[in-house]
Amino acid sequence: MTVERPLHIACIMDGNGRWAASRDLPRTAGHTAGEENLAEIVRLAVDRDVGWLTVFGFSTENWVRPRSEVRHILGLHEKLFGRIQELNELDVRIQWIGRPFDSPSARTPRYVQRAIRKAINDTAGNTGMVLTVAFDYGGRAELMSAVRAVRAAGEPVTPESIDKHLYLPELPPVDVMVRTSGEQRVSNFLLWQGAGAKIHFSDAAWPDFDADDLDRAIALAR
Ligand code: IPE
Ligand code: IPE
Ligand code: MG
Repeated sequence: MTVERPLHIACIMDGNGRWAASRDLPRTAGHTAGEENLAEIVRLAVDRDVGWLTVFGFSTENWVRPRSEVRHILGLHEKLFGRIQELNELDVRIQWIGRPFDSPSARTPRYVQRAIRKAINDTAGNTGMVLTVAFDYGGRAELMSAVRAVRAAGEPVTPESIDKHLYLPELPPVDVMVRTSGEQRVSNFLLWQGAGAKIHFSDAAWPDFDADDLDRAIALAR
C-alpha cells in the first residue's frame, strides 16, 4: 500500500486513573503504567512507519489535580524525556509542545524543562519518526499565542500566518486523533492541526491501548 505522506497520529492518552482504580491501585500507578505503555506504542508506531506521533501527556487544565498526583506525573515526564538511548536506537526524534517556558503563564518546572531540552538536543539528528509530547499544552492557549504573534508581526490574520506562528510550525495536520478510555471529547488538544482529523475512539484505558488498537487507528487514515 502506498502512503502519500508520513502519517500523523495524535493520541489523547486518557484513562490512567480508571485503569488503576479497577485494579485497586493508586492513580499514580496508572500513570506509571501509561508511561510504560507509551514507550511500547512508540516502538509499535515505528514498526508501522508512522511518521509523526503526538501524545497528550499533560494539559493546561490538569494543574488543578492533587499536588501529589501532579508531582508523580512530572517525574514520569522526566523519565519519558530521559529515554534517550531507546529513542536513538529507534531513530526517533523527540519534540515537546506546550506553553513556551518563558511565557508568563507557563508552568513547566525547571527540572522537567532541562529533561525536555536535553532529549530534544540528544535526538535532534534522528531522521525516523517524530515523537511530540504535549506537556502544559492547550489548543486554545496555542491559538491565542499564534494570533498575538501574527498581530505583533503586523501580518494579516490568515491560515498561513497562523500556521507559521504555532508552537511547532513543522507539525503536519493530524490524520487520526485517538482518544482512549471511552471518552468522546477533544479536550483542547491540537485544535488547529486536528481540524480535519478522523477520530478513533477506543474503550481501552491508555495503559491497555495495544497493537490492535493502533492498527485500527492507522486503518482509518488509509
Ligand atoms: C490521563 O489519564 C492522564 C492525564 C490526563 C495526565 P487520567 O488521569 O485522566 O485518567 P482518568 O480519566 O481519571 O481515568
Ligand atoms: C485529557 O485528559 C488530557 C490528557 C490526556 C493529558 P483529561 O482526563 O484531562 O480530559 P478531560 O478533562 O476528561 O476532558
Ligand atoms: Mg481523564
